[in-house]
Amino acid sequence: TPVAAVIPAAGRGVRLGPGAPKALRALNGTPMLIHAVRALAASRHVSLVIVVAPPDGSAEVKSLLDAHALPGGTPGGGPASTDFVVVPGGDSRQESVRLGLAALPPQYGVVLVHDAARPLVPVDTVDAVIEAVRDGAPAVVPALPLADTVKEVEPAGEPGAPEPVVATPERARLRAVQTPQGFDRATLLRAHETVTDDVTDDAGMVEKLGLPVVTVPGHEEAFKVTRPLDLVLAEAVLARRRL
Ligand code: CTP
Ligand code: MG
Repeated sequence: TPVAAVIPAAGRGVRLGPGAPKALRALNGTPMLIHAVRALAASRHVSLVIVVAPPDGSAEVKSLLDAHALPGGTPGGGPASTDFVVVPGGDSRQESVRLGLAALPPQYGVVLVHDAARPLVPVDTVDAVIEAVRDGAPAVVPALPLADTVKEVEPAGEPGAPEPVVATPERARLRAVQTPQGFDRATLLRAHETVTDDVTDDAGMVEKLGLPVVTVPGHEEAFKVTRPLDLVLAEAVLARRRL
């Protein structure tokens, strides 16, 4: 069954600081979004990539894809014969993914959702997620053990104020999850049609449906570019890859 990827790229990138929308910021001269699109198109299984652009940035994203030889709707355009579609995003990540799914043609039975903000995910991680979905899991997330101990707190009203610690979950049972997250098409569509709670990832919506979500090993290089220090790390990883 054919695999499509939805790439939400419509966020502002507030935590990265002032500037262009995060997905359009350059990493070693190439926009973060282009790195992310290439990372997904590098999988020979992925035959469609739906990019969810900043609300007023669809034209710019289309011309960026063109400029980097990732032409929309042209079979054989990419190294793995991938089609590209661009749609405008919404106010939340959830809304942006929903808008991307609205552009999903019926033949795609497996759907990946991948943050543009994780531009360096290795193709092996992408393929591991796809394989687990094809093996029958309705929802699959790449996950890594945590380095830091995590505390649950009672959030303070103002930033910087001390916060009472409520609990310390056993670290060995915790995982940090990444993208691409992979889904059986019907499961993901149903999750986005029915779950209205605020969640920070798509698998969380599937959990709310009471359906099983499984992990596969994530990868350090699939980290999310969130704060300025992450840009430094991403550029260093790219520079190392060129050696
Ligand atoms: N995203 C999106 N639409 C939104 C918000 C986020 O498509 N309305 C996307 C981002 O472009 C990013 C991914 O969701 O690829 C993960 O979100 P995050 O890392 O939080 O990015 P931003 O929301 O852009 O960053 P911030 O929260 O710092 O503003
Ligand atoms: Mg955000």
